[in-house]
Amino acid sequence: MYDVLNDSVLQKISEIADAEGVQAFVIGGFVRDIFLRRHNNDIDIVTLGNGIDLAEKTAHAISPKLTVSVFKNFGTAMFRYNGMEYEFVGARKESYSHDSRKPHVEAGTLEEDQNRRDFTINALALSLNKENFAELLDPFNGLQDMNDKIIRTPLDPALTFSDDPLRMMRAVRFAAQLDFTIEEKTFEGIRQMKERISIVSMERIIDEFNKIMMTEKPSRGIVLLDKAGLLELIFPELSKLKGVEVINGCGHKDNFLHTLQVLDNVAEKSDNLWLRWTALLHDIGKPRTKKFSETIGWTFYGHEIVGSRMVPDIFRRLKLPMNEKLKYVQKLVLLHLRPIALVDEEVSDSAVRRLLFDASDDIDDLMLLCEADITSKNEIKVKTFLQNFQLVREKLKIVEEKDALRNWQPPITGEEIIETFHIQPSKEVGIIKLAIREAILDGVIGNNHDEAFAFMLEKGKELGLAK
Ligand code: CTP
Repeated sequence: MYDVLNDSVLQKISEIADAEGVQAFVIGGFVRDIFLRRHNNDIDIVTLGNGIDLAEKTAHAISPKLTVSVFKNFGTAMFRYNGMEYEFVGARKESYSHDSRKPHVEAGTLEEDQNRRDFTINALALSLNKENFAELLDPFNGLQDMNDKIIRTPLDPALTFSDDPLRMMRAVRFAAQLDFTIEEKTFEGIRQMKERISIVSMERIIDEFNKIMMTEKPSRGIVLLDKAGLLELIFPELSKLKGVEVINGCGHKDNFLHTLQVLDNVAEKSDNLWLRWTALLHDIGKPRTKKFSETIGWTFYGHEIVGSRMVPDIFRRLKLPMNEKLKYVQKLVLLHLRPIALVDEEVSDSAVRRLLFDASDDIDDLMLLCEADITSKNEIKVKTFLQNFQLVREKLKIVEEKDALRNWQPPITGEEIIETFHIQPSKEVGIIKLAIREAILDGVIGNNHDEAFAFMLEKGKELGLAK
């Protein structure tokens, strides 16, 4: 189990700590992951001496060329070696948090250092000194908690969480990642302290949220965030999907539960974080478009359009990337009803072609999302729908092979139109280009240069242009 301690750097630290007469320990996530048999590249070293000093001496002993990054204000230093990251710090009395911007922390004992860590499972230390090499120091029974699959703060939760309120998100993230339960008092602590999340930067919050999104079953973490009261603080649009309204005995489905189901379905099939985000946001426009009609019941007309328009604001606020990831999520939210619409109707080639054209390279992701969106308590209904959906997939394949519309490039360029009709760049060029595209999508002409050229001549004539 402790084979990882044979690591050459850890051995070096051990020798140097002994030679310097200071105590050194591996601590935190790396120790936790030894017991959980998870891989971890980050090794945290805590010493009852000077962390920077130990880092520099170790690095020098490994290779004089090894660069050490020193953060003097925080009394920490780190270096990378063989794909691992070694971070050194002196034991401290104050809260231990990587991102804490508090300089001048007071030196403390190992126990004091362990006290101020986030969870019992993250407070274990293994000694590196020769006399008690690999001895486990576990003052809060973190090992027992690991066996019992429990997340618990070492001290009173109110104290641990006020040291760094991000830890409330971390509690949920670890529970979700490891399939652990948050112990009752700790969970109650989160519920009481939830408002304090407001002092944490959105970048740190979303980092934890995305880790939850990348777990095997993301709904587990999101439900916990909801129960803790954190979700409505950090992501109110998602909370608003909750609940069922009933009028005249007619209800609609709970869009929150449905969304979580779709998210889990997507997560089963794909590791793409942004496709998972698409699942999370696909129905985000529903609360704003909800209407009740005496004749048809509940409707959410246009929720895909409203939803896709909400995405940029959500991304901006949550400090998610405002680049092509945003565009991708927006596009898939907008298109998420299109494939399913093809199930009901007599699927025309033209509708399939237009879908391929609009989704382009993201068609496979869109199909995956759409399939994941088929949720119902009625298993027969789901089965029939999935079968019909398979037909759409087949149709898509045939049309794709025939028409090569994915990543479509116009067979006739604007320049060719200008040259052919000896005209200046003008609105006619745009009209002809659009007409060619529409003719291809409608199947009037094939997606090739010859047919498009002939069509262009005809269209030009209509517009009074001479060759
Ligand atoms: N820690 C803490 N409070 C925080 C962040 C970190 O007490 N808000 C302590 C914990 O002891 C943790 C260690 O610092 O184990 C290292 O933190 P970090 O590298 O962020 O997390 P890991 O626990 O290693 O887990 P992961 O790598 O999955 O983020």
